[in-house]
Amino acid sequence: MDPIAEPWWKRSVIYQIYPRSFMDSNGDGIGDLQGILSKLDYLVHLGVEVIWLSPIYDSPNDDNGYDIRNYQAIMQEFGTMNDFETLIAEGKKRGIKIVMDLVINHTSDEHPWFVESRSAKTSNYRDYYIWREGNKEQPPNNWGSIFSGSAWEKDEKTNSYYLHLFSKKQPDLNWEHVPLRNDLYDMMKFWLDKGISGFRMDVINFISKDLNFRDGIVHPNQLYGDGSPYYMNGPKVHTYLREMNEKVLRHYDALTVGEMPGAGPEDAKIYTNPKNQEVDMIFTFEHMNLDSGPFEKWDVKPLNLVELKRNFEKWQQALHQTGWNSLYWNNHDQPRIVSRFGDSELYRVESAKMLAICLHMLQGTPYIYQGEEFGMTNVKFDSIENYRDIETINMYKEKRQQGIHHDEIMACIYAKGRDNARTPMQWTKAGGFTEGIPWIQMNPNYLEVNAEQALADSSSIFYTYQKLIRLRKEHDILTYGSFHLLLPDHPYLFVYKRRTEEAEWLVVTNFSKRTEQIEWNLLEAPYQEGKLIISNYERPKTDEGVIKVRPYEAFVFAFERRK
Ligand code: NOJ
Repeated sequence: MDPIAEPWWKRSVIYQIYPRSFMDSNGDGIGDLQGILSKLDYLVHLGVEVIWLSPIYDSPNDDNGYDIRNYQAIMQEFGTMNDFETLIAEGKKRGIKIVMDLVINHTSDEHPWFVESRSAKTSNYRDYYIWREGNKEQPPNNWGSIFSGSAWEKDEKTNSYYLHLFSKKQPDLNWEHVPLRNDLYDMMKFWLDKGISGFRMDVINFISKDLNFRDGIVHPNQLYGDGSPYYMNGPKVHTYLREMNEKVLRHYDALTVGEMPGAGPEDAKIYTNPKNQEVDMIFTFEHMNLDSGPFEKWDVKPLNLVELKRNFEKWQQALHQTGWNSLYWNNHDQPRIVSRFGDSELYRVESAKMLAICLHMLQGTPYIYQGEEFGMTNVKFDSIENYRDIETINMYKEKRQQGIHHDEIMACIYAKGRDNARTPMQWTKAGGFTEGIPWIQMNPNYLEVNAEQALADSSSIFYTYQKLIRLRKEHDILTYGSFHLLLPDHPYLFVYKRRTEEAEWLVVTNFSKRTEQIEWNLLEAPYQEGKLIISNYERPKTDEGVIKVRPYEAFVFAFERRK
C-alpha cells in the first residue's frame, strides 16, 4: 500500500474521554478541559495519538451532554472556548489529534431552535423537528423511546406531538428540512476550522425516518412498539451522509466514525466503502448485543463465545479490502469489559490483557475507553439514588411500576447499566479525580485499581496497551492482513490468524478460567519457528506438540510464510 494514500487513522488507536468523569481541575466534582490538559502527558506515555471527546457543548445535561443546547459553546462546567483551543494546541504539540462527538440526530429541548419550533405551528423553525398530530388523544404511533415510555411527547402549546427517540428532552431533528441540514453543516465547519480532526457521529444512522410512521411490532414483555425498522438505516440516510461529505467533510482531513445501532456488515460495506464517501468506519453493536435477549439490553444472558467469534469473523471478512472496521469493547454506554467478558475477581489483570490482545490484533481502528487501560471494573451501588444515568433511572421506574422486584432490576443494572463506565477515573490510591465531591461516586476499588499503581508496575495492563498501540504502528500485518478463524466451535478459546503474503500471525486467547490443551498441528503453524510478539503470561507452555492455554491466557506468534 502506498503510504501516501494511507489515511492516518488506519494505524491509530483512539482514546475516548468522557470529560465529566476524567479529571476535575477545580474541585467542583465534575471533570473539565483543564483536567484533560493536565493528563495529556499520561496519554502520550500510553502512545495515544487521537482523543475522542464525548460532548463538551453547552447542555442542560439531561443525558450528560448528548442533549445539546448550543452547538457552538462549551459547557460551562467544562471550561471555556479558550480552554478548548488550548487543548487543540497542546494536543498538536504532542502529536495528539482531537475528535469531537457530533450529536445531530436530536438536540436539547432547550436549544433555541426547539424553543422556537414549539412556540407556534407557523414558526420558521417548526420544520426543524418532527411534529405530528395525535390519534384520538393518543400519540401518532406506538413507538417506544430508547429511554422508556412513548417516543412521542404531547406539547400543550400547539396540541401536537414531537418525536424523541431518546428522552423527552432530546427532540429528534427533521433531516428532511434543507435549512436544518445547512445549519448543521455550517456548525461542523466551525469546529473543523478550529483544528479538530474529525467527528464521532452519534446514532447517525437514525437521521432518516420512514415518514409513514407505521406502528412497530410489540415484542414479548415490551410495553411499546419497536420503531427501529422505520428509523434505523432509513430511506435517505446514504443521501444525507453523501451530502454532508460533499458539503463539509471532504474539504478537511477528518476522521469520521458513525455510531450505528442496527447496522450489519452489509450496511457497513456501503457506509464505509471509500468510494461512497460517507464515513470512514462505523461502530457496530452486534458483538455488544450477544449477552442480551433479542428485544432489550436488560434481558441479560451469558456470552456464548462461539457466537462472538462468528460475529467477529463476519465483520472482519465483510470489510476486508472493502471498508474499514472500528474495534471496541468499551465506551461510555457499555459496562466494563473485564467484568463482562473477563473475570474481574480472580483474573482481573490476566483477563483484561487477554481481551486487549484479542481485540487489538484484529483489522480496524481500535478504541480504548478511559480506565480500560488499567482494568477498571463495573460497580454495584445498593440504591438507585446513587445512579445518575437517565436510561437506568427511567428503566428502573418503569419496571418497578410493572411490579418487578428491586433486586431483579438491580441485577440488570449491575450487569448492563451505563454508569458502570461513568464512575470517575481512578488516578491514584486516594482516588485522584477530584478534591471535591464527585458527581457520581467512585468505584470503591480505587485503592487497588488505579493509574498510579499501573504506571509503577512494568507488568501491568497499562503496558500491555502501550505495547499493542506500538505494534499497530510497526507491523503492516495488523493494518492489512486478512483474518482467518481457527477452531470455530471451541467453546473457550478464540484462535485466529492474520495473514499477508510474507507473514502470518497466530493469536491464541482463552476466554475462560479453565486450562485448555490444544495440539499444535491443529493450528497449522510450526511452533519452533514462531517469534513471540506479545503474551500475558511468561512464555507459553508447550509439551511435545501440545500447548496448554492457561486461564485467560493470550499470546501471539509471528511466522514467516514459506514461499
Ligand atoms: C448514543 C450515545 O452514545 C449515548 O450516550 C446517548 O445517550 C444516545 N446516543 C443519545 O444521544
